[in-house]
Amino acid sequence: MTMTTTRGTLPSLLTEGRAVFPDGFVWGAATASYQIEGAARDDGRGPSVWDTFSRTPGAVAQGHTGDVACDHYHRYAEDVRLMSELGLAAYRFSVAWPRIRPDGSGPVNPRGMDFYDRLVDELAAAGITPYVTLYHWDLPQALEDRGGWTARDTAYRFADYAAAVHARLGDRVRHWTTLNEPWVQAFLGYGSGVHAPGRRDAAASLVAAHHFLLAHGLAAQALREAGAPEIMLVVNTAPVLTPAQIADPAAEPDEADAEAADRVDCLLTRQILDPVLLGTYPATVLEIVERHAGLSHVHDDDLRTIHQPIELVGVNYYSPCVVRSSPGEPANPAYPGSEGIAFPAVEVPVTAMDWPVVPEALSRHLLRLSHDYPGAGLMVTENGAAFDDVVTAGEGAEHVHDDDRTAYLDSHLRAVHAALEGGADVRGYLVWSLLDNFEWAEGYARRFGIVHVDFATQRRLPKDSALWFREVAGRNGLA
Ligand code: NOJ
Repeated sequence: MTMTTTRGTLPSLLTEGRAVFPDGFVWGAATASYQIEGAARDDGRGPSVWDTFSRTPGAVAQGHTGDVACDHYHRYAEDVRLMSELGLAAYRFSVAWPRIRPDGSGPVNPRGMDFYDRLVDELAAAGITPYVTLYHWDLPQALEDRGGWTARDTAYRFADYAAAVHARLGDRVRHWTTLNEPWVQAFLGYGSGVHAPGRRDAAASLVAAHHFLLAHGLAAQALREAGAPEIMLVVNTAPVLTPAQIADPAAEPDEADAEAADRVDCLLTRQILDPVLLGTYPATVLEIVERHAGLSHVHDDDLRTIHQPIELVGVNYYSPCVVRSSPGEPANPAYPGSEGIAFPAVEVPVTAMDWPVVPEALSRHLLRLSHDYPGAGLMVTENGAAFDDVVTAGEGAEHVHDDDRTAYLDSHLRAVHAALEGGADVRGYLVWSLLDNFEWAEGYARRFGIVHVDFATQRRLPKDSALWFREVAGRNGLA
């Protein structure tokens, strides 16, 4: 299969033809609360940092907010029906902390909890397995007002909240994720400021990153004590490659570029996964943290708390990170410590997000994670692509012929299959996303769904990619 996008054609290096996945491989789709629920003021929900940020002039494209989004809060039953029609075995969604504890701490809001209770029951009735993420970026604004993730106390409040959600749903939910992409929240939220809460402070972002890890460890302890059988941390992790390696995966990068790639890999992946899975911070990370923020926020026992046994690492993969050495370059604000490193564009096809499409990088990365962090099972918890979809009429019905998305999913599934063949322990694949939704700073303009959403009418229309995905999941493999 070849992939054609707005900028050219990339022949896939991955095998064509049949690819059968292991028995029990999990097929599903993912979403997140703020991106789909809407109902921002219903049933006692408190404001989150994204409510505040999306109202900040210039923060989100076209001033979009999550006030209504896909109105999933009111349409969840219809959406579960849709999942069922699409043959999904698993559904990954997040719980909105501000629905459960509107001010971040304090008493549980029963009406907020009731929504997830109803959703979990609806999923059970449809035979769909829930994967619950406790935090997908909608921090209660009240906690941000007290320092947000730069305050150590937020980690403890998160563990309390995690225990409260488990107490209500734990009888029916087996698969628990503490945090979604803590790196993005710390470094885009507190470093580059392109995500909520929009702070631009290198020291704050590094301190926040540590507190996220602490929050993960404390919540993992609380969930385990409450009897959760499976705990996962979901990360945005990607291979860091040089332009030469993008052009030719077998190329040996020059030494300065290779050093730049190692440094960025420490910041992007090892800063998060080493403490969680190995109980240590890489020396490069400690040096950068100390230089910007000191180390007084890292307490003696923290690494022990962070290093809890967990069953799975969730991998959200879209594209590789590309870097090269560039003496004199100022640090990228999302990567404190990246002075002298450039993040260049490369000449490969891109999606509507301008993200390079390099499926082979996913195989490589899954194998590397399996090798470097033995014992942690992997699950692809997000993979997908935004393209400029067009709704067309024909044969008495409307369609979205999103061949580019189908090609993207096909090539990345082949990459997962190649990693499995190479020995990586990958348990499942969840497409991002079930529905077109609020794509953070890009608003509604970037559509990742396998189901099209008309935001004026809330009509759902499965795209061709959804129908294709149903077949793939149904036969547990690619034809
Ligand atoms: C990862 C995030 O978890 C998700 O919320 C986002 O929409 C996708 N990436 C696409 O950017």
